Amino acid sequence: MTLQTIDIPDSINRLSYVEGAEHLIDTANDAIEAFMLADQTVIENFVTCDFHLLDQAITWIEQNHLLAGNRFCEFGAGFGVGAMLAALRGMESIGIEIESRLVEQANQVAEGLGNAAEFYCGSFVPRGVEGLTEIAAEVENVSTEEDDVCELIGRELNEFDLFFAFPWPGEHGFFEAVFDACAANGALLLTYRGREGMNLVTKV
Ligand SMILES: C[S@@+](CC[C@H](N)C(=O)[O-])C[C@H]1O[C@@H](n2cnc3c(N)ncnc32)[C@H](O)[C@@H]1O
Repeated sequence: MTLQTIDIPDSINRLSYVEGAEHLIDTANDAIEAFMLADQTVIENFVTCDFHLLDQAITWIEQNHLLAGNRFCEFGAGFGVGAMLAALRGMESIGIEIESRLVEQANQVAEGLGNAAEFYCGSFVPRGVEGLTEIAAEVENVSTEEDDVCELIGRELNEFDLFFAFPWPGEHGFFEAVFDACAANGALLLTYRGREGMNLVTKV
Protein backbone atom coordinates (compact mmCIF):
# COMPACT_ATOMS: atom_id res chain seq x y z
CA MET A 1 0.00 0.00 0.00
CA THR A 2 1.16 3.49 -0.80
CA LEU A 3 -1.55 5.32 1.07
CA GLN A 4 -1.08 8.12 3.55
CA THR A 5 -3.76 9.21 6.01
CA ILE A 6 -4.76 12.86 6.21
CA ASP A 7 -6.45 13.66 9.53
CA ILE A 8 -9.80 15.39 9.21
CA PRO A 9 -10.59 17.38 12.38
CA ASP A 10 -13.86 16.70 14.26
CA SER A 11 -14.58 20.42 13.95
CA ILE A 12 -15.67 19.97 10.32
CA ASN A 13 -19.15 19.42 11.74
CA ARG A 14 -19.26 23.19 12.37
CA LEU A 15 -18.68 24.10 8.71
CA SER A 16 -21.58 25.61 6.76
CA TYR A 17 -23.26 23.48 4.15
CA VAL A 18 -22.65 24.41 0.55
CA GLU A 19 -25.51 26.33 -1.10
CA GLY A 20 -28.23 23.90 -2.20
CA ALA A 21 -26.88 20.98 -0.16
CA GLU A 22 -29.66 20.93 2.42
CA HIS A 23 -32.36 21.00 -0.26
CA LEU A 24 -30.56 18.21 -2.13
CA ILE A 25 -30.25 16.08 1.02
CA ASP A 26 -33.89 16.63 2.05
CA THR A 27 -35.08 15.77 -1.47
CA ALA A 28 -32.94 12.63 -1.60
CA ASN A 29 -34.02 11.53 1.89
CA ASP A 30 -37.70 11.86 0.89
CA ALA A 31 -37.03 9.79 -2.24
CA ILE A 32 -35.11 7.16 -0.23
CA GLU A 33 -37.94 6.88 2.30
CA ALA A 34 -40.56 6.52 -0.44
CA PHE A 35 -38.42 3.89 -2.20
CA MET A 36 -37.94 1.88 0.99
CA LEU A 37 -41.66 1.95 1.78
CA ALA A 38 -42.70 0.98 -1.75
CA ASP A 39 -40.07 -1.64 -2.45
CA GLN A 40 -40.79 -5.18 -1.29
CA THR A 41 -37.35 -6.63 -1.98
CA VAL A 42 -34.74 -5.17 0.34
CA ILE A 43 -31.36 -4.24 -1.13
CA GLU A 44 -29.30 -5.54 1.76
CA ASN A 45 -26.04 -3.74 1.01
CA PHE A 46 -27.69 -0.33 0.70
CA VAL A 47 -27.51 1.97 3.71
CA THR A 48 -26.92 5.70 3.58
CA CYS A 49 -24.03 7.68 5.03
CA ASP A 50 -24.24 10.97 6.94
CA PHE A 51 -24.84 13.24 3.95
CA HIS A 52 -24.42 16.46 5.94
CA LEU A 53 -21.02 15.35 7.23
CA LEU A 54 -20.05 14.31 3.71
CA ASP A 55 -20.83 17.80 2.43
CA GLN A 56 -18.74 19.31 5.23
CA ALA A 57 -15.85 16.91 4.53
CA ILE A 58 -15.76 17.91 0.85
CA THR A 59 -15.79 21.57 1.90
CA TRP A 60 -12.85 20.92 4.27
CA ILE A 61 -10.91 19.15 1.49
CA GLU A 62 -11.52 22.11 -0.84
CA GLN A 63 -10.63 24.69 1.82
CA ASN A 64 -7.34 22.90 2.48
CA HIS A 65 -6.47 22.79 -1.23
CA LEU A 66 -6.04 19.01 -1.22
CA LEU A 67 -7.63 18.43 -4.60
CA ALA A 68 -5.35 17.94 -7.59
CA GLY A 69 -8.27 18.46 -9.98
CA ASN A 70 -12.01 18.60 -10.39
CA ARG A 71 -13.18 15.01 -10.91
CA PHE A 72 -15.22 13.05 -8.35
CA CYS A 73 -16.24 9.40 -8.33
CA GLU A 74 -18.51 7.61 -5.84
CA PHE A 75 -17.89 3.86 -5.53
CA GLY A 76 -21.21 2.16 -4.70
CA ALA A 77 -23.30 5.29 -5.14
CA GLY A 78 -26.70 4.14 -3.86
CA PHE A 79 -29.00 7.13 -4.41
CA GLY A 80 -25.97 9.11 -5.59
CA VAL A 81 -26.08 11.85 -2.98
CA GLY A 82 -22.27 12.00 -2.67
CA ALA A 83 -21.85 12.42 -6.41
CA MET A 84 -24.63 15.03 -6.47
CA LEU A 85 -23.08 17.02 -3.59
CA ALA A 86 -19.81 17.12 -5.55
CA ALA A 87 -21.60 18.19 -8.76
CA LEU A 88 -23.39 20.92 -6.81
CA ARG A 89 -20.04 22.61 -6.20
CA GLY A 90 -19.02 22.37 -9.84
CA MET A 91 -17.07 19.14 -9.81
CA GLU A 92 -17.31 16.79 -12.79
CA SER A 93 -18.97 13.98 -10.93
CA ILE A 94 -20.01 10.36 -11.44
CA GLY A 95 -21.37 7.49 -9.36
CA ILE A 96 -21.01 3.77 -10.02
CA GLU A 97 -23.72 1.53 -8.56
CA ILE A 98 -24.34 -2.15 -9.16
CA GLU A 99 -28.10 -2.20 -8.40
CA SER A 100 -30.05 -0.97 -11.41
CA ARG A 101 -33.03 0.08 -9.27
CA LEU A 102 -30.77 2.44 -7.30
CA VAL A 103 -29.22 3.87 -10.46
CA GLU A 104 -32.73 4.60 -11.71
CA GLN A 105 -33.55 6.37 -8.44
CA ALA A 106 -30.30 8.38 -8.47
CA ASN A 107 -30.99 9.50 -12.03
CA GLN A 108 -34.53 10.55 -11.11
CA VAL A 109 -33.40 12.59 -8.11
CA ALA A 110 -30.59 14.22 -10.14
CA GLU A 111 -32.96 15.05 -12.97
CA GLY A 112 -35.54 16.53 -10.59
CA LEU A 113 -32.87 18.74 -9.04
CA GLY A 114 -31.18 19.65 -12.33
CA ASN A 115 -27.97 18.14 -10.94
CA ALA A 116 -25.23 17.25 -13.43
CA ALA A 117 -23.88 14.08 -11.74
CA GLU A 118 -23.87 11.02 -13.99
CA PHE A 119 -24.60 7.48 -12.85
CA TYR A 120 -23.42 4.20 -14.29
CA CYS A 121 -24.83 0.77 -13.57
CA GLY A 122 -22.08 -1.76 -12.99
CA SER A 123 -19.32 -2.75 -10.61
CA PHE A 124 -16.54 -0.33 -9.64
CA VAL A 125 -14.16 -3.29 -9.32
CA PRO A 126 -11.83 -3.35 -12.33
CA ARG A 127 -10.65 -6.61 -13.83
CA GLY A 128 -7.26 -8.04 -13.00
CA VAL A 129 -6.24 -6.03 -9.92
CA GLU A 130 -3.34 -7.95 -8.42
CA GLY A 131 -3.92 -9.30 -4.90
CA LEU A 132 -7.58 -8.28 -4.82
CA THR A 133 -8.93 -11.84 -4.75
CA GLU A 134 -7.41 -12.45 -1.29
CA ILE A 135 -8.86 -9.23 0.16
CA ALA A 136 -12.17 -9.92 -1.59
CA ALA A 137 -12.47 -13.21 0.31
CA GLU A 138 -12.89 -11.24 3.56
CA VAL A 139 -15.60 -8.96 2.20
CA GLU A 140 -19.30 -9.79 2.63
CA ASN A 141 -21.22 -6.60 1.94
CA VAL A 142 -19.61 -5.43 -1.28
CA SER A 143 -20.07 -7.19 -4.58
CA THR A 144 -16.59 -8.24 -5.62
CA GLU A 145 -17.76 -8.89 -9.18
CA GLU A 146 -15.26 -7.45 -11.64
CA ASP A 147 -16.28 -5.21 -14.54
CA ASP A 148 -14.83 -3.33 -17.51
CA VAL A 149 -14.96 -0.13 -15.50
CA CYS A 150 -13.18 2.13 -18.03
CA GLU A 151 -15.53 1.01 -20.77
CA LEU A 152 -18.52 1.49 -18.46
CA ILE A 153 -17.70 5.07 -17.51
CA GLY A 154 -15.77 6.05 -20.65
CA ARG A 155 -12.81 7.21 -18.56
CA GLU A 156 -9.86 5.75 -16.67
CA LEU A 157 -10.03 5.64 -12.87
CA ASN A 158 -6.68 7.44 -12.76
CA GLU A 159 -8.42 10.57 -14.12
CA PHE A 160 -10.34 11.13 -10.87
CA ASP A 161 -9.12 13.36 -8.05
CA LEU A 162 -11.53 12.47 -5.25
CA PHE A 163 -13.26 9.13 -4.60
CA PHE A 164 -15.93 8.56 -1.98
CA ALA A 165 -17.29 5.30 -0.56
CA PHE A 166 -19.28 4.12 2.45
CA PRO A 167 -17.85 0.69 3.24
CA TRP A 168 -19.49 -1.61 5.76
CA PRO A 169 -17.52 -1.92 9.03
CA GLY A 170 -14.18 -3.65 8.53
CA GLU A 171 -14.46 -3.61 4.73
CA HIS A 172 -12.69 -0.35 3.87
CA GLY A 173 -9.51 -2.30 2.96
CA PHE A 174 -11.21 -3.56 -0.19
CA PHE A 175 -11.97 -0.02 -1.41
CA GLU A 176 -8.45 1.09 -0.50
CA ALA A 177 -6.97 -1.80 -2.50
CA VAL A 178 -8.94 -0.79 -5.62
CA PHE A 179 -8.01 2.87 -5.07
CA ASP A 180 -4.36 2.03 -4.52
CA ALA A 181 -4.23 -0.07 -7.67
CA CYS A 182 -6.12 2.28 -10.00
CA ALA A 183 -5.99 5.91 -8.84
CA ALA A 184 -3.34 8.46 -9.79
CA ASN A 185 -0.72 9.65 -7.32
CA GLY A 186 -2.16 12.57 -5.39
CA ALA A 187 -5.74 11.33 -5.69
CA LEU A 188 -7.86 11.15 -2.51
CA LEU A 189 -10.14 8.45 -1.11
CA LEU A 190 -12.71 9.66 1.41
CA THR A 191 -14.63 6.97 3.31
CA TYR A 192 -17.44 7.26 5.81
CA ARG A 193 -16.73 5.09 8.87
CA GLY A 194 -19.96 5.41 10.85
CA ARG A 195 -19.34 6.59 14.41
CA GLU A 196 -15.67 7.24 13.59
CA GLY A 197 -16.74 9.83 11.01
CA MET A 198 -14.84 10.53 7.82
CA ASN A 199 -11.48 9.02 6.88
CA LEU A 200 -9.21 10.44 4.20
CA VAL A 201 -6.22 8.86 2.51
CA THR A 202 -4.09 9.97 -0.40
CA LYS A 203 -2.02 7.90 -2.78
CA VAL A 204 1.67 8.83 -2.65
C1 LIG B 1 -23.37 1.22 2.10
S1 LIG B 1 -24.13 1.62 0.56
C2 LIG B 1 -23.61 3.31 0.37
C3 LIG B 1 -24.46 4.12 -0.58
C4 LIG B 1 -23.99 5.57 -0.78
N1 LIG B 1 -22.62 5.64 -1.19
C5 LIG B 1 -24.16 6.37 0.49
O1 LIG B 1 -23.17 6.69 1.13
O2 LIG B 1 -25.29 6.67 0.85
C6 LIG B 1 -23.11 0.73 -0.59
C7 LIG B 1 -23.64 0.66 -2.00
O3 LIG B 1 -22.66 0.02 -2.81
C8 LIG B 1 -23.31 -0.78 -3.78
N2 LIG B 1 -22.32 -1.76 -4.25
C9 LIG B 1 -21.86 -2.86 -3.62
N3 LIG B 1 -20.90 -3.47 -4.34
C10 LIG B 1 -20.73 -2.72 -5.47
C11 LIG B 1 -19.88 -2.82 -6.60
N4 LIG B 1 -18.98 -3.79 -6.73
N5 LIG B 1 -19.97 -1.86 -7.56
C12 LIG B 1 -20.87 -0.85 -7.45
N6 LIG B 1 -21.71 -0.72 -6.41
C13 LIG B 1 -21.64 -1.63 -5.41
C14 LIG B 1 -24.51 -1.33 -3.03
O4 LIG B 1 -25.53 -1.77 -3.91
C15 LIG B 1 -24.91 -0.14 -2.17
O5 LIG B 1 -25.85 0.66 -2.82
